[in-house]
Amino acid sequence: MTAAGVDLDRVLAETFVARAEYHRTLTSTNDRAARCAIEAPGELPLMVVAEHQTAGRGRGGHRWWTGPGSLAVSLLLDAKMVEAAGQPSPLVSLAVALAVVEAVSPRLPTHPLGIHWPNDVLAAGRKLAGILVEVLPDRRHIIGIGLNTNNSLTDAPPELRQTATTLRELTAREHDQTGILVDLLRHLEVALGQLTQRPERIGLQADELCLQRGQTLTLHSGGHFTSGICAGIAPDGSLLLDTPVGRRRFYSGILHKGTAQE
Ligand code: BTN
Repeated sequence: MTAAGVDLDRVLAETFVARAEYHRTLTSTNDRAARCAIEAPGELPLMVVAEHQTAGRGRGGHRWWTGPGSLAVSLLLDAKMVEAAGQPSPLVSLAVALAVVEAVSPRLPTHPLGIHWPNDVLAAGRKLAGILVEVLPDRRHIIGIGLNTNNSLTDAPPELRQTATTLRELTAREHDQTGILVDLLRHLEVALGQLTQRPERIGLQADELCLQRGQTLTLHSGGHFTSGICAGIAPDGSLLLDTPVGRRRFYSGILHKGTAQE
């Protein structure tokens, strides 16, 4: 079945996805995957793809814009596939970001890609993809990936036009959504294997791609704001901030550029 430019049969044949469903419109593929986790038990990974999301969600309560032609995908994964050292861990989100970078890089040879801890992939200094990892009470994981592929910024909300980008905008052509998704899922399977066996490899690779090093950042976590200069990503996936009281590590939180007063 081909849907939203995605050939689900090919994805099922060529990747580790065991079941797949396509929806023309959903509120959010993550919400649908969470519902399937309860109502439709079966083989995993389950992949949910939507052509359009009416309430796509990002981290920190942000909305995610699913412009026509973009990829909105969620995977429901068994806990044992995501067993990083110590959970919940930013390494899961970073592993997905690395898989996105691996899949997209060959399609963007003149635009180096980078990561913003813990869940953004950037190209040309603008956001190309976002990742939303949600953990169910039984430790199954939902990995939501929003990738700006064939969508156009002319359809984007005005506030995103200066900060987002799409593959189509950067290359002035359309891309094969199935090919991108297949590559992404294959790289993800490898990254999840590393996550289980050598999780520090994920942290080290993410650190190499971290674009925030040297920037002054403020992290909002647990009701506290901490400002400092980013010293990169540690092998355990934590964000390193050099603060007036020394270097601190963070495993979760919402980041802003600048100090808390700015
Ligand atoms: C972020 O940038 O904060 C994360 C964005 C994640 C968006 C994807 S699109 C597919 C999946 N469904 C959602 O509602 N969100 C994720």
